[in-house]
This record gives sequence, structure tokens and C-alpha cells, in this order.
Amino acid sequence: MNYDLKGRTAFVTGATSGLGRRFARVLAQAGADIAIAGRRAERLATVKSEIEALGGKCAAVPLDVTDIGAISHAFDTAEGALGPIGILVNNAGMSREGLAVTVTPGDFDAVMGTNLRAPFFLATEAARRMIAQGKGGRIVNIASIAAFRVLPGVSTYCISKAGLAMMTQSLAREWARYEINVNAICPGFIETEINRDWFQTEAGQKQIRSFPRRRLAQESDLDGLLLLLASDASRAITGSLMTVDDAQSL
Ligand code: NAI
Repeated sequence: MNYDLKGRTAFVTGATSGLGRRFARVLAQAGADIAIAGRRAERLATVKSEIEALGGKCAAVPLDVTDIGAISHAFDTAEGALGPIGILVNNAGMSREGLAVTVTPGDFDAVMGTNLRAPFFLATEAARRMIAQGKGGRIVNIASIAAFRVLPGVSTYCISKAGLAMMTQSLAREWARYEINVNAICPGFIETEINRDWFQTEAGQKQIRSFPRRRLAQESDLDGLLLLLASDASRAITGSLMTVDDAQSL
């Protein structure tokens, strides 16, 4: 098994917090050079220093992923600093709570724009470059168990993640011939900024008690699968939607 990423360059979106920050560190520790993309310049600088302190090479790339016109320039910046991108982690995501009857067109567009439209155009930008390089590549989409089951009160989030799952398989089929593997990690509930407020409420605590293991998953629970999907060890794995949920959806 070869999980070594030395000589590879990864581009991670939403890398300034939560899972994205963790993914950037894990890939760096496996030897990859990392382009961290995000909206918050100060936080980008912090994560860059963290990765450099681990001995990794890192480029901070300011990017709002919903600004599709800025994606190509962001890749140029990353590749200018680190060389051709061989791994894309489509991690940036968001949610808006509310029953479907209260969802505005603005809410709908915000969730789809971030969770579905942006990953599509990030993936196509990455793939065009990977195809030109002729060395294959790895695209890892961060979906959710919400791709397969209803989470009440966040219908737009669930719809966007279900779309991301099908996008994963469609692009995997289209780019199989180029040795570009496209897979999705579908995490269960892991406490991060996206859900911290909820899990501090009484209802959130009750939800945790309803899980078979009575706990949230941890960021580190995704490390192994990320390395598998980013590395040569996953040569024949493409179009897979892999759940890591600590039994929460069973
Ligand atoms: P988070 O809120 O800490 O991280 C999301 C990141 O995406 C943040 O850094 C945020 O600034 C960034 N982001 C959002 N919109 C952006 C935009 N327009 N441009 C650039 N960056 C943007 O939450 P978390 O949990 O780390 O989420 C990461 C991914 O994991 C998301 O796609 C989320 O849907 C997914 N996920 C999270 C789960 C959890 O329980 N925490 C479970 C299943 C999936």
C-alpha cells in the first residue's frame, strides 16, 4: 500500500476551519504540497503557518468558491507556487436551516451555489489541467450522509449533497479514461463550526444520545479514507460514495 504523497500537490477548498483545515494538515503530513483556498485571509495565514510548522510547503489562495470566474486564477496561483495540481479536495460547504416552505430563492441558490455548482466547476477546472498533464489525478468530494437520508429542516443541504454524490459518479465515469479518480467521502455528524451551535442545544444533545454509539464522530476519523482516496493506494477506486459515520445512520 502506498499512501505517500511526496511530490504531489493538493488543492483544498474551505481549508481555514473544521474538516478542510484537518484535511490540509493530513495531506501535508503524508508529504503533499498544499494549496489552501478560502475566503478569510487571516485564517489562511494561520493554517499556512501550521502546515509550514509541520515541515510542509503551502500556498494560501484567497477564493470564494461561488465566484466561478475566479477559479481558474486561483489554480494558476496555486500551480505557480507549487506546481501542477494532482489532488483536489472539494470541501467548502454550508447549510441554511429552515423548513422547505420558508426557503427563499436566495437561500436555495446560496446552498446549491456552494455545495454543488462550485464543486462542479472546481472539478472541471482541475480535470482540464490533469488531462493536459497526462498523469491522472484524484478528486475527493466531501458529501454527507445527507446525500442518502433526510436530515429534517435542511432540505436544501440534503438535495445539494445528493447532487454532489451523482456528480461524483458522473465525473468518475467521464474521466476514468484519464486515470482521474473521483470519489466522495460521506461523513456523519462531526462537531465543527457548521453544527456546533446545534449540538449545544438540548435537542442536539438528544440527537447525539439517539446514535448507536451515543457520540459524534471526530475529525480524525476521516484521515484514513482521505489518504486512501488521495493516494496511489486507490488506483481502482473511482465513483465510490463512502460513508464514515460511526454507525449514526444505521
Ligand atoms: P465548517 O463550517 O467548519 O467548514 C466549511 C468551510 O467551508 C469553512 O471554512 C467555510 O468558510 C468554507 N466555505 C463556505 N462557503 C465558502 C465559499 N463560498 N468559499 C470558500 N469557502 C467557503 O464545516 P465543516 O464541518 O468543516 O464542513 C466541511 C465540509 O464537510 C462541508 O462540505 C460539509 O457540508 C461537510 N460535512 C460536514 C459534516 C459535519 O458533521 N461537520 C458532516 C458531513 C459533511
